[in-house]
This record gives sequence, structure tokens and C-alpha cells, in this order.
Amino acid sequence: MLSAPECLWLCLAALILSASAEGEPGSQIKVVVLEGSDAILPCSLSTKENIEQNRFNWKKVDPNEQEVFRYDGGLHYNDGLPGQDKHFRGRVSHFPLELQSGNASIIIKNTVVPDSGNYTCDIRLQQKQTFSIELVVGAAPKPLIHVLKITEDEARLKCEVRGASPKPKVEWRDSDGNILPAEEPQVSRTGERYDITLLTTVTRTNISPFHCVATQEEIGHVTEDKLSVAFCGTCGKVITRMAVCFIGILSFF
Ligand SMILES: *[C@@H]1O[C@H](CO)[C@@H](O)[C@H](O)[C@H]1NC(C)=O
Ligand SMILES: *[C@@H]1O[C@H](CO)[C@@H](O)[C@H](O)[C@H]1NC(C)=O
Repeated sequence: MLSAPECLWLCLAALILSASAEGEPGSQIKVVVLEGSDAILPCSLSTKENIEQNRFNWKKVDPNEQEVFRYDGGLHYNDGLPGQDKHFRGRVSHFPLELQSGNASIIIKNTVVPDSGNYTCDIRLQQKQTFSIELVVGAAPKPLIHVLKITEDEARLKCEVRGASPKPKVEWRDSDGNILPAEEPQVSRTGERYDITLLTTVTRTNISPFHCVATQEEIGHVTEDKLSVAFCGTCGKVITRMAVCFIGILSFF
């Protein structure tokens, strides 16, 4: 149980969090998309005043600094204004009809993992208003299960997730969703992408189908592969029965 002061702090924290979701200058909004889809980065004046004749500038500030989109009283990066980072060339546009109502949001087409990071949107009025937006572009490849070895009462299974971002938690589970013991995961990283291999050994007493589940909490994504293993009496010993045994393995995609 929480004591009254603790609860008060939690409630205050919750209030502050919900207030910052409104997109006031100085607060941080988070946008989450999967790689390959388009992302709208929001930036709007609460006064809704017309900004067609004003300037606004979108920059990526973190982890590296890049010029994303600039609008200057009608001129912009898709209309001859120089200076845009080549990483964003041809992929970013604003919404011309929204300018009348103080909306300087942009859309980034066909996002890739390196687009992830913190962005700022500056709108020049009498004074500058700055908005911060965090973009997370996730890559969520499906795990793949392979059978490494099968005997009459044991199977050694490998689960592989390749190129995921952010780093997923990978787990083996039985048909009831119970976590199965597994070996230490093998993790390798290339840029922001992760390859993860997780080995487990299941026995007759575990209940098929077995699931390999990859969870990426930051992007609210869960994906899995599952496999039914039929252990057969003598396949560990008799070579010709091995084939029969493997036919007993059903993979569901
Ligand atoms: C700004 O424009 C974008 C694109 O049309 C839209 O998705 C967003 O809801 C608008 N924001 C506001 C506050 O109207
Ligand atoms: C973006 O900003 C947030 C809050 O300031 C910070 O926690 C996060 O690490 C930043 N992201 C990157 C990619 O730098």
C-alpha cells in the first residue's frame, strides 16, 4: 500500500506527464512507428495563429545534429531552399493547408531506424517557440525457430531474431505461456540493430507447442514463432526413423 504523501507524488507525476502530452513548448512528445511506415511529427501553436508568412525549422538534435525541414514564408526545402541534410532529402513534407491554423507538423516518409532520435521544431513569432519531439522507429522482425537436435525425449531448439531495434527481450515459453529455462542469450549489435540467439532444451514433460517470443516494450510490440515437437519412441536410435520424427515437427507461421 502507498502512504498518502507517496500517492500524492504519484498523482502529481501523472498530472505532469499528461500535461506534457498536450505538446506545450518545452515539453516532450514521443512518436513511435515501425520501420517503413510514415511518421507525423506534431508541432502546433495553441493560439492557432496563421504562420504562412512566418518561419519554422525542424532539426534533429540527438544523437546527431541534422537539418530536417525549413519553411520560410512560403519557401521550403522541397521548393529550392538549400541546406537540408541528405539523409532526409525527398522524404519530408509539411502540410500547407494547416499553416493557417498554426500547424507546422511534418511527415517523414518511409522511416528507417536511424531516423530515431530527438527533434526540435522552432516557430518564429515575436519570440521563438520550441517544441521537442522524440521519434522512435522500431524494427520488429519475427523470431525464427530451428530444431538443432531431437532425440526420443529431448529436443534442442534455437530461436533467432535478426536486425531488431530497439533491443528485444527474447524468451522461450510453453503452450501455457510459462517461461522455459534457456541458456544465456547470444547478442550482437550492428549500429542500433540487434541479433539475438536463444537456445533451450525441451523434454517430453514440457507441453508443445513451444513459443519463442520477442518483446520490445519501448515500441509496444510483441512477435513470436511457435513450433510443435512430436517426440517419437526410437528416433534417437534409428536413423531411418529420424525422418519420420522430423515430419512430426509442425511449424506454424
Ligand atoms: C496538424 O496537421 C497534421 C497533418 O494534417 C494533423 O495530423 C494534426 O492533427 C494537426 N494538428 C492539430 C493540432 O490540428
Ligand atoms: C531524447 O530525449 C530524452 C529526454 O530528454 C532522452 O531520455 C533520450 O535519451 C533522448 N534520445 C536520444 C536518442 O538521444
